[in-house]
Amino acid sequence: MKPHFLLAMLAPAALMAETVHISTPGTSMVLDATVGQPLQIVYYGEALSPADIEALPNTGAPKLNAYPTFGLTGGNETAMTVKHPDGNITLDMAVTGVSQSKEADGADMTTITMKDRYYPFTIDVKYRTYPDADIIETWAEATNGQKKGDVTLTEFASGYLPIHQGNVYLSQFYGTWANEARLEEARLPHGMKVIKNKDGARNTHTAHSEVMFSLDGAPQENAGRTIGAALCYTGNYELRIDTDDSNYHHFFAGINPDASAYILAPGETFVTPPLALTYSQEGKGGVSRNFHRWGRNHRLAHGNTPRKILLNSWEGVYFDINEEGMDQMMNDIASMGGELFVMDDGWFGVKYPRTTDNCALGDWTVDTNKLPHGIQGLCDAAKKHGIKFGIWIEPEMTNTTSELYEKHPEYVLKANNRDLNLNGARGGTQLVLDMANPKVQDLVFSVVDTLLTNYPEIDYIKWDSNSAIINHGSQYLPAEKQSHHYIEYHKGLLKTLERIRAKYPDVTIQDCASGGGRANWGYLPYFDEFWVSDNTDALQRIYMQWGTSHFFPAIAMASHISNSPGHQTFRTVPLKYRTDVAMSGRLGMEIQPKNMSEEDKAQCRKAISEYKEVRNTIQMGDLYRLLSPYDKLGCASLMYVAPDKDEAVYYWWKTESFVNQQLPKIAMAGLDPDKMYVVTELNRIDNEPLPYEGKAFSGRYLMSNGLEMPLDHNVDYNKRNDYASRVLRLQAK
Ligand code: GLA
Repeated sequence: MKPHFLLAMLAPAALMAETVHISTPGTSMVLDATVGQPLQIVYYGEALSPADIEALPNTGAPKLNAYPTFGLTGGNETAMTVKHPDGNITLDMAVTGVSQSKEADGADMTTITMKDRYYPFTIDVKYRTYPDADIIETWAEATNGQKKGDVTLTEFASGYLPIHQGNVYLSQFYGTWANEARLEEARLPHGMKVIKNKDGARNTHTAHSEVMFSLDGAPQENAGRTIGAALCYTGNYELRIDTDDSNYHHFFAGINPDASAYILAPGETFVTPPLALTYSQEGKGGVSRNFHRWGRNHRLAHGNTPRKILLNSWEGVYFDINEEGMDQMMNDIASMGGELFVMDDGWFGVKYPRTTDNCALGDWTVDTNKLPHGIQGLCDAAKKHGIKFGIWIEPEMTNTTSELYEKHPEYVLKANNRDLNLNGARGGTQLVLDMANPKVQDLVFSVVDTLLTNYPEIDYIKWDSNSAIINHGSQYLPAEKQSHHYIEYHKGLLKTLERIRAKYPDVTIQDCASGGGRANWGYLPYFDEFWVSDNTDALQRIYMQWGTSHFFPAIAMASHISNSPGHQTFRTVPLKYRTDVAMSGRLGMEIQPKNMSEEDKAQCRKAISEYKEVRNTIQMGDLYRLLSPYDKLGCASLMYVAPDKDEAVYYWWKTESFVNQQLPKIAMAGLDPDKMYVVTELNRIDNEPLPYEGKAFSGRYLMSNGLEMPLDHNVDYNKRNDYASRVLRLQAK
């Protein structure tokens, strides 16, 4: 019997269940849901057989509360703390029932209901399985069952997981603007480790809400027991790992409760965002592949539709938008084989034309001085060039210098009795709209609705968000609910995005927030991709994309060829290297093509045409990270393998340059050992082909040896530089 069928047998619907087995083909979570007792977690890891599950009580493993609550638990960290109407701050939860159902896609939904032994307060702990990706999502739904009297939630984690101490390493992602998603790995020490965000609007510039736990010592890519966890939320979050004297690392993840006490009126339910968990014996790579599959199949908008190759105008012209310039850029990208042109910031504002970043957000009317034929003129031009058209907006924001703010100062987030704080605001004037306010939700909806109704040709929207919440108050929420302003902002945002997606299911929407400030699975059901970083420097991108790839698939990672010297690092990087890095994600361009030489344009044309050939494998394939840039061995390498293992794309980038440096030879991974693969170099610039060009090697050979990478490129003397990179296509014969 397959383990995941066991669940129904052990716990028929709404019974006094004891053992609940929540399983996917490769993983098992075992709970003890004895009625009258707190819900307990017995096991999470590799899939167990029925015999193993039966034997679990005899393994000596302790049972820990699966959703610990505050009040009667000693000094432990907890998932939920509340204050009842009479001031009591304790919870004493006991299971009252288990119910299960099969979803249409083969998933199991399990709800374990716990009730407080005295107060009419209920917590439903939810588990949803994703059998095709070995992921289990968990979250909690807390209900105030009082007839009269509010309950205040002061802590409301989505989920908890105990991880036995040993030699456990944590992989986490830190960063800042233009340097997002840096990987950091270390053995978990004793004490509290907290990873959090309190930006309010953008939650991934700094730390990410995804982590991996490697249970067998230092993290490995394709071996070792590894747990991956991603909190899928758009707002402030908090991940806590308490390593105490109990032999366990206690992992909690949820909305950040700081300054967010939440009042539940009688009958109201608070639903936490999901925490997605996976377990793999194939190391970090296995965890990444599970998350990528789950994301593409279940969470990312249009997760299995190949993305268009685009040119974005930002780094090419910044705010200097005009009709002629846009037409020229469209012509250029079309002539290089691109499929879409995206006009970035600077196209709007009538009373206050948007010529720089200090005005006009909210005034989404085209500036006809810049664009006399308006958006329609641009849509027509795109059609003429045989490509699609996309447009930038930042609908959750305004500026003090804007018609919107003049008309509706009550729409912005602002604390009562306080002057507006504009310290650190973009352009010195940018403000965040109060998404808790239904009128603001309507307004934000109407920004998209008006554009897409008037110009149904618009194929792509870049949705930006370039401010933290810095004025902590809602002019809409009542006095007693000011501490809801963070949470209600995101409820309002998600409601608006739901509305947009219900009416416009097909449009492609990029999620951007001053670069990679919104790379979180909480956003991606509504978005097709995210902008990884405002930093497009190819060398630094290798590090950022490496980190990002731990939880997000290439199809979601917008990765553009930009100018050299780069606008952020001022580094001079050859086009070949810039292209080879951009080609490892969703390829695009972010450059002024007018300033490119004909030779460079031809090189891009070739790269775009070759990318199209392998796009499905990159965007839908399984990722194998081979050599990490963070290992500082002089190069980095990864590959994507098509699900049927008939094709793979291999990348190799030198990350530093010394004469006669000795670099490791990198074994490939993920191939079929018995298939023969023909090697073709993509983006080739060398005068001579590589020795293995057009030759076939077995997957077994490639996975145990790999191929030699020359230290530099065989090009004319005047074209030599200090970079080297290779992209190889492998095709099964
Ligand atoms: C943010 C984005 C950029 C660009 C600018 C426009 O910084 O990350 O890509 O769109 O805004 O103002």
